[in-house]
Amino acid sequence: MKTVITYGTFDILHIGHINLLRRARALGDRLVVGLSSDEFNHGKHKSSLLNYANRKVVLESIRWVDEVFPEHDWEQKIGDIKKYGASIFVMGHDWEGKFDFLSEFCRVQYLPRTEDISTTEIKRSLSIVGKGATDDRS
Ligand code: CTP
Repeated sequence: MKTVITYGTFDILHIGHINLLRRARALGDRLVVGLSSDEFNHGKHKSSLLNYANRKVVLESIRWVDEVFPEHDWEQKIGDIKKYGASIFVMGHDWEGKFDFLSEFCRVQYLPRTEDISTTEIKRSLSIVGKGATDDRS
């Protein structure tokens, strides 16, 4: 049983997330995902539209995700790799090089990021649409 581990906020799930999760799962037999807690996000000055509980339910509904656990801080990854018996650590290539230190514990692989989409971009375009939008039902 080869376990793959990855991390992220996965707010407003989009095709970039799905591609990443599908490719990560294809590298092994089980995919476990460390999902940023709301407190951890606040600490990074990042806020999510959906709270942790809702992001977790959405993520757990993806067929390539086997288990979701909370990511509370930057320091827990080595412990998680050992706890879940992960043999591959995966992140999108925007993180290239940042987690190479984990290669002492498992294989570290950066996957290509899907172009032209991110949660930040979705939030930006929704706020632009929101300003001029009218609702035909009103
Ligand atoms: N990811 C990806 N392709 C994208 C967006 C994200 O492969 N277009 C990957 C990231 O590299 C990461 C994982 O999905 O490994 C979770 O990323 P996350 O930061 O939650 O998503 P983003 O859309 O990048 O969110 P934000 O804009 O808030 O940074």
